[in-house]
Amino acid sequence: MRLTVVGTGYVGLVTGACLADTGNDVIGYDINAEKVASLCRGECPIYEPGLTEIIQANSRAGRLSFTTDVRKAVHHAEVIFIAVGTPPREDGSPDLTALHDVADEIADHVNDPKIVVIKSTVPVGTGDDLEQRMNRRARHRIRVVNNPEFLKEGTAVDDFQKPDRVVIGAEDPEAAECIRELHEPFVRNQRPIFVMHRAAAEMTKYAANACLAARISFINQIANICDAMGVDVNEVRVGIGSDARIGFQFLYPGAGYGGSCFPKDVQALVHVAQRAGVQADLLEAVHSVNQRQREVLFHKITSRFGEDLAGRTFAIWGVAFKPKTDDIREAPAVVLIERLLEAGAKVQAHDPVALTNLRRRFGDRLSYHNVAYDALNGADALAIVTEWNEFRSPNFDEMQRRLKQPVIFDGRNLYSLSTMQRRKFEYFSIGRPSVRPE
Ligand SMILES: NC(=O)c1ccc[n+]([C@@H]2O[C@H](COP(=O)([O-])OP(=O)(O)OC[C@H]3O[C@@H](n4cnc5c(N)ncnc54)[C@H](O)[C@@H]3O)[C@@H](O)[C@H]2O)c1
Repeated sequence: MRLTVVGTGYVGLVTGACLADTGNDVIGYDINAEKVASLCRGECPIYEPGLTEIIQANSRAGRLSFTTDVRKAVHHAEVIFIAVGTPPREDGSPDLTALHDVADEIADHVNDPKIVVIKSTVPVGTGDDLEQRMNRRARHRIRVVNNPEFLKEGTAVDDFQKPDRVVIGAEDPEAAECIRELHEPFVRNQRPIFVMHRAAAEMTKYAANACLAARISFINQIANICDAMGVDVNEVRVGIGSDARIGFQFLYPGAGYGGSCFPKDVQALVHVAQRAGVQADLLEAVHSVNQRQREVLFHKITSRFGEDLAGRTFAIWGVAFKPKTDDIREAPAVVLIERLLEAGAKVQAHDPVALTNLRRRFGDRLSYHNVAYDALNGADALAIVTEWNEFRSPNFDEMQRRLKQPVIFDGRNLYSLSTMQRRKFEYFSIGRPSVRPE
């Protein structure tokens, strides 16, 4: 099938590349000319395991190309996927400007009937609005389908190719069937495709993210209570997670959730609820617990070193909002770095892949280190904010040698308390008793 994907970011690129990989003829369209130029050279503008290989293989096979020419992109396709950003406004409501711009562009250029699939995360009713908006302008009929994306950055290709489920929200059975067929190759392992009302699909995406975010804020709040009571949250986590009704996923205490989805989608759902006259106090709490949690490491640092951090140096390991991505949007590490700099400290940061994005954000306000141990040189302490695998079993002796003093603030509970005790680190983690060598 001839497809166009509008927006070649995390979602659009993965969608386009994976659909080309099953034999479709795909064009990726974006207004960012620099991004399109690099994609045309076979370079992937984001770090996402396995994605570069799929882009290159399908570009070589002639099934995947990229353009900034909207007319060409619209004319090419029977089905157009929209995967542009829907970032939060000041008040938490989602900004649909890019989505509306794209809808107008599509409507102005349609040369025959099209199916438009919204992959961006959007509030209930957006599909209805867009369908009306486009059909008012367009010379040919446009049917709008909602097909929310559940991929996780870091495992996005795998998630797209082997989804837990596919959700298709459509009012038109023929359009639903067309999108179902496109997804058939990805559910051969008997995973379900749910066809539902468009508004239900829109709501499903927000509800899924809100549920996962709620689990994280829940365990973080339990961790903070444990912290105050001298209880080890890890013992509690094991105790509750082994209950089949609860499970272990998204039940790891840490420095708060980040990324471009959970924070924005929880706030958007609160906003949607308020507009509908529904009090969303549980969701408001999920958000505010997380806002506080992102400050937890900084508070532990000031409790140890005092409010004035002038003359102090801190090493940071991990700045991406989670492992295996270079995405630093809403990352807890960014909040921590801001606070440390405001308090007068020097920051030496390491991340396996996200330093380029961090440098774009902070410029020469901190130093950047490609080798993890180099970031430790002369630092008063190390703060671990992202649980990259390579931080799990480091060379502790080397760390001792490089740090000015062996102090670790661990926002991801990577090390056992007994290991830290044995290796004579002063160690502060989340919801577990602190370790202080004699
Ligand atoms: N990132 C994720 O893990 C994820 C997962 C599921 C759903 N989503 C949702 O998918 C949507 C996209 O997220 P993302 O992270 O891929 O965003 P992104 O910021 O990585 O990519 C968006 C792309 O759209 C392009 N764009 C913006 N305006 C455009 C226009 N008018 N015409 C053409 N291109 C335009 C941008 O240049 C950019 O390349 C959001 O609604 C998000 O909530 C994201």
